Amino acid sequence: MLFANPCVFVLLLFSDTLAAAALKHQHILELNIAGANAILGGAKEVQKSLKRAEIIPTVVDDFVPSALLEVRWSSGEAALGNTLKPKKLEDAPSISLSDLSGHRDHGAEFVITLTDPDAPSRKDPKWSEFCHWIATARGLSPETTDGTPETSPRFGPAHLNEVMPYKPPGPPEDTGKHRYVFLVLVAKNGTTEELHLSKPSDRKHWGYDTDEDETRGVRDWAEENGLIPVAANFIYAKH
Ligand SMILES: *[C@@H]1O[C@H](CO)[C@@H](O)[C@H](O)[C@H]1NC(C)=O
Repeated sequence: MLFANPCVFVLLLFSDTLAAAALKHQHILELNIAGANAILGGAKEVQKSLKRAEIIPTVVDDFVPSALLEVRWSSGEAALGNTLKPKKLEDAPSISLSDLSGHRDHGAEFVITLTDPDAPSRKDPKWSEFCHWIATARGLSPETTDGTPETSPRFGPAHLNEVMPYKPPGPPEDTGKHRYVFLVLVAKNGTTEELHLSKPSDRKHWGYDTDEDETRGVRDWAEENGLIPVAANFIYAKH
């Protein structure tokens, strides 16, 4: 009886189409929200791991990552505090960065650093921090058209410009587990121009003068070079 009225029929048809369209949009929306949540969750997870390992505030001030950093050696990768044998860390790793912010100026140079705040040991960090690596590369990951971040190409050692050559972690005997911290830094002022970075005069204390109990390192160097952290990862290694 209902369909006897053509108006109701048309209305029903129309609302059905609308519902389908709404469903489709909702689906896309849900996908995007899910992606954003995964990313936010990832950033929070990184921040939490850094705090748990006391990398925040020992090495860097508190920050929420805006990119996720992958670090891979030929047999092993950094996974926010896993333990790897020094034997596996002999060659510089390849790195890849997923940009999470969505509004950063792509094409900007970024800086990857590796620092050991536990040199020669976590109990007695008198050489801390020890600078293991400073390298630069250009271009964060491109975005796909639907706005979801895409993993950038991997940057192997050949694609990186080394400011301080990679020195593999070599924790001395009986010094326990060391934290090896990877930080990705970018220019605070957002410039896409070439960065002219200072090269530390020494690996110990990143070349800075220190008092007896004072440690200095990547935070000071970042400050000196106008850089801020955007991503991090870390491993543990011992002799
Ligand atoms: C932006 O920061 C970089 C790195 O510190 C510096 O080399 C450059 O001169 C700055 N550019 C401007 C326009 O302030």
